[in-house]
Amino acid sequence: MTNRKFYVKTWGCQMNEYDSSKIEEILKNTRKYNLTKFPEKADILILNTCSIREKAHEKLFHQLGRWKKLKQNNTNIIIGVGGCVASQEGKSIFKRANYVDFVFGPQTLHRIPEMILSVIKDQKKIIDITFNNKAKFKKKFINYNKKISSFVSIMEGCNKYCSYCVVPYTRGREFSRSIDDILFEIKQLSKNGTREIHLLGQNVNAYSTKNASTNEQHNFSDLLKLVSEINGIDRIRFTTSHPLEFTDDIINMYKNTKKLVNFLHLPIQSGSDKILKKMKRCYTVEQYKNIIRKIRNVRPNIHISSDFIVGFPGETDEDFEKTITVLSEINFDLSFSFIYSPRPGTPAYRLNDNISIDKKKERLYFLQKILNQQALQWSRRMLGTVQNVLVEGPSKNNIMELFGRTENNRIVNFEGDPTMIGKFINIKITDIYAHSLRGTVKNF
Ligand code: 5AD
Ligand code: SF4
Repeated sequence: MTNRKFYVKTWGCQMNEYDSSKIEEILKNTRKYNLTKFPEKADILILNTCSIREKAHEKLFHQLGRWKKLKQNNTNIIIGVGGCVASQEGKSIFKRANYVDFVFGPQTLHRIPEMILSVIKDQKKIIDITFNNKAKFKKKFINYNKKISSFVSIMEGCNKYCSYCVVPYTRGREFSRSIDDILFEIKQLSKNGTREIHLLGQNVNAYSTKNASTNEQHNFSDLLKLVSEINGIDRIRFTTSHPLEFTDDIINMYKNTKKLVNFLHLPIQSGSDKILKKMKRCYTVEQYKNIIRKIRNVRPNIHISSDFIVGFPGETDEDFEKTITVLSEINFDLSFSFIYSPRPGTPAYRLNDNISIDKKKERLYFLQKILNQQALQWSRRMLGTVQNVLVEGPSKNNIMELFGRTENNRIVNFEGDPTMIGKFINIKITDIYAHSLRGTVKNF
């Protein structure tokens, strides 16, 4: 029998992208399935969902409705739904969409091949949305990906329970992967040509694990040090961090480890202590600013990026102005901002969502205008400078050119030759655009 084709559609965050790449690897490794980029050509359709903000429930059934049509033409098609919406909705997905064959959660994706086989063999629906991080990360994951920059998950879940957020309910409690497994995966990637590692987790700085062989406790800064010692890996990024556990040992890594990029994503969410308290973020604006001060002491030019939520219940004009004040004090780069979205099952869902949508949109527009100006100023400062660019491949707009990224995550397009792919090249920045830069090769 020829191999079946599978298609994976991913919504949302980097964690989901990483999980989807893992689903792809797991299915390819069985040698029974081949990846296709076209849902119409697939025998197995997999949707990896995210429920952090938008109306995920409606979006799910809308997407499934489209796939239902494909299944009506070919009843052998198998449909699987996973990710955070699956984790929340569980069995009710089968009730509303009886053509779905299996449902998995963020921690049971390693079971997909066996779920597919059961669907085929027993002709019945399968669901497993249990929280079983240990099983998910049980085997040493051989990551065959040949990307220049690769994601590696180091921890899962979250114990912070910010009052607006579904993640602790959909992804479960914090679980740190074994340090040996992480290092094994990164060494493997390095052999395959990866030069930049992007460590992933809901709160990477909460990473903590005991090494089974030495009985030693390792925290995030220990992990950073060990990753920085791996030959071939010359750049390290990480997301996301929480200000609460951004301890001095991590800050010191910015002093001691050149491989750590000059860019940090550290979400503040709001500039008002009153709102931070209602959000249950467990820090004050002063404590946040203090972390940034300390980092800038050891890395004066570091670019700080953040997430912001506007229109949280009870946010007054005065609270919002405090957020705007923090913007001018920190001078952020490449940040994300969202209108508060009430998420069923979270404590904030019960609060009176008392701000009109027009007001929320107005605040978001104002905030984003300033954030965009700040990002543009950071770009302007780069004009005429020589940047260390990791070349990732042909440019997305023009395949005759190449593109790479600077330490502060700017895409740079330039004229070069294919031998530069996978190398760090000095590029002089000649033009700046809203979403990218242009430059010329300085010396090669
Ligand atoms: N509404 C709006 N934004 C949210 N985020 C998380 N939950 C919500 C919500 N209910 C944002 C936060 C977080 C980012 C990943 O998504 O800013 O840092
Ligand atoms: Fe959600 Fe807060 Fe955990 Fe981030 S730290 S994943 S916002 S609960």
